[in-house]
Parts: sequence; C-alpha cells; structure tokens
Amino acid sequence: MKVLHVAAEIFPLVKTGGLADVVGALPQALISAGADVRLLLPGLPAIADAVLHPRTIYEFGPIFGAARVSLRLARMPYSHVPVYVVDAPYLYRRPGGPYQAADGAEWSDNLQRFALLGWVAAHLAAGELDLGWTPQILHAHDWHAAMACAYMAAHPATTAASVFTVHNLAFQGLFSHADFGQLGLPAHFMHSHGLEYHGQLSFMKAGLKYARRITTVSPTYAGEIATHEFGCGLDGVIRGRQADVSGILNGVDAAVWNPATDSGLASPYDAADLGGKARCKAALQAECGLASRADTPLFGVVSRLSSQKGLDLVLAALPMLLASGGQLVLQGSGDAELERAFQAAARAHPAQIAVRIGYDEAFAHRLIAGADVIMVPSRFEPCGLTQLYGLRYGTLPLVRRVGGLADTVVDASEQNLREARATGFVFGPANAAALESAMVSALTLFGRPDEWRTVMRTAMARDFSWAEAGGHYLSLYRSLLPA
Ligand code: ADP
Ligand code: GLC
Repeated sequence: MKVLHVAAEIFPLVKTGGLADVVGALPQALISAGADVRLLLPGLPAIADAVLHPRTIYEFGPIFGAARVSLRLARMPYSHVPVYVVDAPYLYRRPGGPYQAADGAEWSDNLQRFALLGWVAAHLAAGELDLGWTPQILHAHDWHAAMACAYMAAHPATTAASVFTVHNLAFQGLFSHADFGQLGLPAHFMHSHGLEYHGQLSFMKAGLKYARRITTVSPTYAGEIATHEFGCGLDGVIRGRQADVSGILNGVDAAVWNPATDSGLASPYDAADLGGKARCKAALQAECGLASRADTPLFGVVSRLSSQKGLDLVLAALPMLLASGGQLVLQGSGDAELERAFQAAARAHPAQIAVRIGYDEAFAHRLIAGADVIMVPSRFEPCGLTQLYGLRYGTLPLVRRVGGLADTVVDASEQNLREARATGFVFGPANAAALESAMVSALTLFGRPDEWRTVMRTAMARDFSWAEAGGHYLSLYRSLLPA
C-alpha cells in the first residue's frame, strides 16, 4: 500500500511540539508493517539542508508568489524514509520557525506557504509529478497540510483517498476571505460547506470537509471535539462528519525515548534496576542547583507555556508545593507572563524551584528521567506525549482528566492501587485546588516507597507502541482502498 504523509514539521529536524514526534515515528512504524510510505515536507532550511541525496524530479513555473519551485526526492537522515521536499526558497528559506518569525509574529504569507504544500501534495497524489510513484492514500497532518484534501477534491484525476489527522483543533490556519482568489480553487469551495468560516477562510476546514476520513490523536479527544466546550467553533462541522471521525492514540518512539538506552542520561536504567533513576534525580538536582535530596519529591514540567497547558494552575499551587518541601524543575517557553512568573519563583526559592526557559531536547530527557512526577495539567490535550514519556521513564504523570491524558494515565486511587493498575495521578476540574489535591496524593504515595515503586513498575510496563497505532492506521487505510 502506497501512503504519502504530508506535514510541516518532523523530528529531529523541525519541531515545535508533539506533531513533529508523530511525523518522525509513524511513517517508520508503517514501513515496518510493510507499507510503502513517503513523506512530503516544505523545504524549510533545516529540512532542505539535511535530507540525503536530493534529486530534482519536477520543476514548476511561478506559483503562489514564488518564481522558482521544484520538487526533490530524497531520504530522511537517520530513518532513510523517502521524502519529497518542496523547494521554494522565496516561501520557505528564511530564519525563524515554521509558522512564525523569531519574534513570534505569524509569517504574513502563511496562506501561500501552506497552500503550496497542499497543492503539491494533491498533484503528487494525482500521479502528475512522479511517474514512478503515486500514493493510494494521502495522509495530511493538521491545518498546515489540510489544503491537500481540498485540492484533491478539486482535481478530477485523483484516485487516492485522503485521511486528515487533527493534532490540535485550536490552531486552524485562518486567513482573510479576500485571499481566496489566490488559492486557484473553484468559487464553490468558498462556501459554508467548504472553506468559509464566519467570514474568513479556514485551512482546518479544508481537512474537516474534504478528507475521506478524519482522525485525531486519542479516542477521548475524538469525542470532545464534537462538543461546544472543546470544538473551538468547529464542533458543528465535526458532528456533521461523525461517522468518519475516529481517535487513534499516539505511540512512543522507543528509539528516542527509552531509559535503558538513553545515552544522554547520567545513568540509564530500567524497571529491574531503578538505582539508575535515583542517580538521574541526583544529577538533575545538581545540574539545576537544587538541594540534593533523594527523599524530596521532585515534580517536573516540560511544556509549551500556553493557556492550553494549564501551567497557571501549577503557578497557583507553588505555595503548597513549597510548604510541602517538594521541588520543581520546569523547562518551557511561550507566554511571557508565565515565563516571568516561574523565573521569579525560581529566584525566590533556588533550592526548591529551577526554571529553564527555552527549547532543549537533551535537557527534556534529563528532566523526565530525573523527576519523580511529570505534571501535565492541561485544559485540553489532544493526546499529549510527555505523560507517555513519563510513564516509560517511571516518572509518574500527574494529569488532568482530559483528552489523551484521560486515555493514558490511571489514577492512584485506593482501588486502582489494590488492583495494581495505577500509573499516576489524575484530577478533574481545571482549578488549583483540584491540582493541589492530586499533588497531595502524589506526596502521600511518595511517603510509601514500596507502593511508589510498584506504581513506577506498572507505569514502565505500559506499552504505547507505534506498532499498535500503525496497525490501526493501516486498517483505516485498507477500508478506503477500492475493493
Ligand atoms: P504539544 O505538541 O501540544 O506541545 P505534546 O505533549 O504532544 O504537546 O508534545 C510536546 C513535545 O515537545 C514533547 O516531545 C516534549 O518533550 C517537547 N517539548 C515541549 N516543550 C519543550 C521544551 N521547552 N524543550 C524541549 N522539549 C520540549
Ligand atoms: C498536538 C497536541 C498534543 C499531541 C500532539 C501530537 O500538538 O497538542 O496533545 O500529543 O499534537 O499528536
């Protein structure tokens, strides 16, 4: 089965969040299961300059404002997955992030940048750009790739079926209605049954309206996005496609996240030898200048600092954390006010709180290995990967009962402890009191080391593998192939 994955980011080359981890790992899992998978990515410098053996397979005339666009076929570094790169220097070759400039402002030409990605994808799927390879399934990720579904629907020669995965409904790719003409689509696409969204133009809707199937990254989130509370204004559209929407839980890339083989750790470890984890904790405390104490519970956070992630609740719970004698290490960046508030807390309590602002993949591994608890108190969370990494590293997740967090963490209630099912701490309402009561549960269990270790081992034995997720995607793809 030939499958083309279209996305804007991929670990380890370009990453703003979990989407990159998924796009890095899922194609490899599908290939291991026997599928013929290729990627299509924008020629951002970190991608275009890193791929192996690129060769030009198609040259386009001027398009979407770019004078020169070519399609190159190459291999990904490390994984060697075949990858098509859209080389369009005018649109993609610039410093800064994939969606924003370094100052956080959205690129003003994102409409052209991501319309081009979708347009090339659709023409590849129609068999026009690479005579040697035509996908049967085009799998588009998030709004950045969603226009592929609209262009496929507009293309008479397309035989491939489209799958659209929503990784986060809050980011929608909204543009001015007036820009519709630049997309080169028939007028009826700019309708409330199409891309039109309250007078604007929505790339997310291109995926939700025109994909044959819609998936999201956990079963609970698949249900949530059909509700007013979590639908980000698109719940009606989702309800209209209910029969075509499903949730497939993300996996963990065991080649990247495995405490037994993680070469960046002070001491790799596994469930049979938790001594290594204690050494990772001591090393983290030393690295962060925290008091060096094995008997102090160490809470960790690795996160974008945005309202989605609920870190204002952690801020509100800091007095309680400090009074309990616990420690916190936070790694993150985003909202300037949250950054300042956490930094101020660290300055005031350097033996108990350490804060690193910025993005640092290697430190994220050391933090997740060294902490006792990883906190993910999100307001909404489509899947969430950090709690999965926490489980694997025996770092018990403390999460809100929402989205993929609800699907992956089992609360350490007395009953779940008795049944040896508990893997973490789960709270309900999005307020500091509820978070604090989950922290009290964590502190209490931490005081019962034998039980804590049992929960750690249960957590580490949970298997959120890409092989399983890949199997679900393959069945979905098969259901779309002509009989
Ligand atoms: P989201 O994609 O919504 O940010 P996920 O939990 O799915 O949330 O994925 C976040 C990914 O980004 C994880 O791999 C996490 O380790 C990583 N991450 C987030 N913030 C940072 C940071 N400041 N430094 C390093 N890695 C980070
Ligand atoms: C999004 C979501 C996150 C999910 C990730 C990968 O960034 O916010 O919950 O884990 O995509 O699917």
